Amino acid sequence: MVMAHGPTLLPTFMPVATQAAIKGLTSQQMEDLGVTLILNNTYHLNLRPGIKILREAGGAHKFQGWRKNLLTDSGGFQLVSLSKFTKITEEGALFASPFTGEPTLLTPEESISIQHAIGADIIMQLDDVVSSLTTGPRVEEAMWRSVRWLDRCIAQHKREGRPEQNLFAIIQGGLDSGLREICLEEMVKRKDSVSGFAIGGLSGGEAKDTFWKMIALCAEKLPDDKPRYSMGIGFAEDLLVCVALGVDMADCVFPTRTARFGVALTRQGPLNLRLNKYSQDLDPIDKDCACPTCRSETSRAFIYHNIGTETATAHAVTQHNIVFQAKLMGDVRDAIMKDEYPAFLKSFFKGYYANGK
Ligand code: GUN
Ligand code: ZN
Repeated sequence: MVMAHGPTLLPTFMPVATQAAIKGLTSQQMEDLGVTLILNNTYHLNLRPGIKILREAGGAHKFQGWRKNLLTDSGGFQLVSLSKFTKITEEGALFASPFTGEPTLLTPEESISIQHAIGADIIMQLDDVVSSLTTGPRVEEAMWRSVRWLDRCIAQHKREGRPEQNLFAIIQGGLDSGLREICLEEMVKRKDSVSGFAIGGLSGGEAKDTFWKMIALCAEKLPDDKPRYSMGIGFAEDLLVCVALGVDMADCVFPTRTARFGVALTRQGPLNLRLNKYSQDLDPIDKDCACPTCRSETSRAFIYHNIGTETATAHAVTQHNIVFQAKLMGDVRDAIMKDEYPAFLKSFFKGYYANGK
């Protein structure tokens, strides 16, 4: 996939830089690690630094010194997940400003305008998100509203004339395959006005097999010539299953957040380096890993002793986890190109769950 800030190979995992900048790493470090697409949140950037500064800077790329591709989420999901006071109306998402407490409305049109000011290479429609555990008429209402809001986002995107920015639709419909199919059908009708399709409203605590069924249903019916993005997915095992089902892109705070708690990801499963058994372990996190932390042979014991006090420790694990996800997806791409994905999955899962540990 080639965008205004260069190529990004698919399938890919996108690290999340909520507030511009990955927590603990500079844009330069991210670039050096080989990452070519990260995610920012419209909601957070709109609050700080705000649209005026972003417009003056010429967009979030310049603001944060990021030269590769950028995706912004539209804001609705963050509003709903961060504040229980958010109220969804047909006009938009009504919330209390965290600064002034004033009621503030985020409409689909405004979300697109803000995302234009941010200047991300991929922008997301404003969607009406309900938790995947919600049942009843609210799920259908949110699904239809997401379709109507997609039309408003498409109209605004066309009005503002920013063709280098790629608008993605977001399929909703909860865990109901009938509603998902209706949403899919409606959104695929708009396929010429969007550059890709996301699958939203999942990974909120539902059973794995239900989650996979929804991904399978969506991925199977989405057009082959546009990228498919499963939102909020980041466990290695989920990424591999999603890719097997036809997903091209995913994002999640998990790898970077868990790093700050001292959990390093490996092909033998996550290592919780806060456990006492690592207090005298002088091995690197993973001797076969090419990340700067493992190459310098930073010891597991160093991480054990310093994770709670020294911020550089969290940075070291964050670098490792970002490289772990990137290498995993790189190996997935190689296996697919060589037509060896089933064998890759077999060997990955054997190692990941080895010895029942
Ligand atoms: N992030 C994780 N899930 C979702 C979703 O359903 N919609 C949006 N906009 N962002 C998400
Ligand atoms: Zn490493």
